Amino acid sequence: MGRGIVQLFAQAGHTVRCHDAQPGAAAKAVDYVDGMFARAVEKGRMTAEAHAQTRERMTACASLADLAGCELVIEAIVEDLEVKRALFRALEDVLGSDAILASNTSSLVVAEIAAACQRPQNVAGLHFFNPVPLMKVAEVIAAVRTAPAVVARLRELTEGAGHRAVVTADQPGFLINHAGRGLYTEGLRILEEQVATPADVDDVLRDALGFRMGPFELLDLTGLDVSSRVMASIYEQFQQEPRFRPSSLVPPRVAAGLFGRKSGQGWYRYGEDGQKTAAPAKPVPEMPAGLTVWVDPAASGAAGLRALCTEAGARLVDRAQDAALLLVQPWGHDATRTALALGVDAARCVAVDPLPPLALRRTLMLTAVTTPAARDAAHALLSHGGVPVTLINDSPGFIAQRVMATIVNIAANIAQRGIASVGDLEDAVRLGLGYPKGPLGWGDQLGAARLLEVLQAQLATTGDPRYRPSAWLVRRVALGLPLTTAEAQR
Ligand SMILES: NC(=O)c1ccc[n+]([C@@H]2O[C@H](COP(=O)([O-])OP(=O)(O)OC[C@H]3O[C@@H](n4cnc5c(N)ncnc54)[C@H](O)[C@@H]3O)[C@@H](O)[C@H]2O)c1
Repeated sequence: MGRGIVQLFAQAGHTVRCHDAQPGAAAKAVDYVDGMFARAVEKGRMTAEAHAQTRERMTACASLADLAGCELVIEAIVEDLEVKRALFRALEDVLGSDAILASNTSSLVVAEIAAACQRPQNVAGLHFFNPVPLMKVAEVIAAVRTAPAVVARLRELTEGAGHRAVVTADQPGFLINHAGRGLYTEGLRILEEQVATPADVDDVLRDALGFRMGPFELLDLTGLDVSSRVMASIYEQFQQEPRFRPSSLVPPRVAAGLFGRKSGQGWYRYGEDGQKTAAPAKPVPEMPAGLTVWVDPAASGAAGLRALCTEAGARLVDRAQDAALLLVQPWGHDATRTALALGVDAARCVAVDPLPPLALRRTLMLTAVTTPAARDAAHALLSHGGVPVTLINDSPGFIAQRVMATIVNIAANIAQRGIASVGDLEDAVRLGLGYPKGPLGWGDQLGAARLLEVLQAQLATTGDPRYRPSAWLVRRVALGLPLTTAEAQR
């Protein structure tokens, strides 16, 4: 991380001094960064003159004392509180009284580092993401005693280097790792409930919602050993908040060494070439001749579903008792309860996810008693046009509904708690997590009232407090306000 930070600020025109406790490591880091610039020159992204000037601005320092006179020190050493505290104390003796001390810590409480210092007002977090030059966002963490001018200066320096600086409170996971929790916790919860396989969850979230990777692919990329520690630490730091409760599925897999890509097997298996081996898709059954279908007329996507049935050659009927297949489209409720509430036969019923529109992937949910004939008929019918279908077991809310409701609820709670401004939250999630949209704007697009309905139905079905909706979300839905609207202040 240190190398990336040196590269970023040297390229932005700053004089950068680099120190590492390990002899020779700082010089190696400077050479490495210089090599990156040399490659940029080869590719025509940097002039030879700019390269020469940048080389001049970077110095490897053998001793901490050589940092005297620096206006800002960004620490990116081992993630150990006592080691960081000792370094910050030593730095205060070397630096001027106005110097800013920033930590790149991912998981420690910045105030605990600052507490070791004589001038805690000068201490803040400045959290970059890997690889630093490419991940164009950094969190400026305002610890409880950080001076506002220090926050403003860090924001200015970071944005001057071309990165979006988002300001966040000194809270567990800061902003980006906090906002990113929902994808993992809900993905794992769906697996725990045997609703779908990891590949199903990833496929739906990629194809239907536009995530670059699903939670299981991401966990395999990061390494489950690393991610499990982050999950446990954020849960504990939030005083065991149920929304962040880690899954009991994880520790046995960590013990078994199923870390992901780096160990050759995680939620997926990886070949010699590092590519995951994909399980073959379930073959699409034959479309039954003369299939009769009833579509719940109250379903939000009823018109689209009816058109699709006709195009695929099925015959629509008006009365459920006349149909071989019954299609429903619940929000938040499971297929079984939906069939019972509508007074239709659960054995012939299949639920179709109304989220998102039917174009890219269609998710079908069975009731607890759906017959194989009804399941196969629905699979054949909804595969019309060559669109892939994911079959899942009964669940209060489909995969996409559950994950989006969880992500939006966590984001609403971040806004409620004033951890960051709505604008910073939205940009941080797009840039830091690579989501296609900021969570609150995305919630507005999908329908905040609908997502609230999903949470309320999940809470009612499971009794699990992880699904309790944020007051911020409830108020905005009640007022019909966009979720991106900032709260009025007293
Ligand atoms: N790796 C990531 O993706 C990532 C992302 C964001 C933040 N971080 C945070 O950045 C920090 C560094 O992480 P990393 O992955 O680059 O670690 P790393 O182990 O690759 O590098 C740490 C360097 O610090 C040096 N060091 C250790 N103690 C020192 C001391 N007392 N004084 C001077 N140098 C010392 C080590 O010799 C080593 O070169 C950690 O706080 C980590 O949590 C890491």
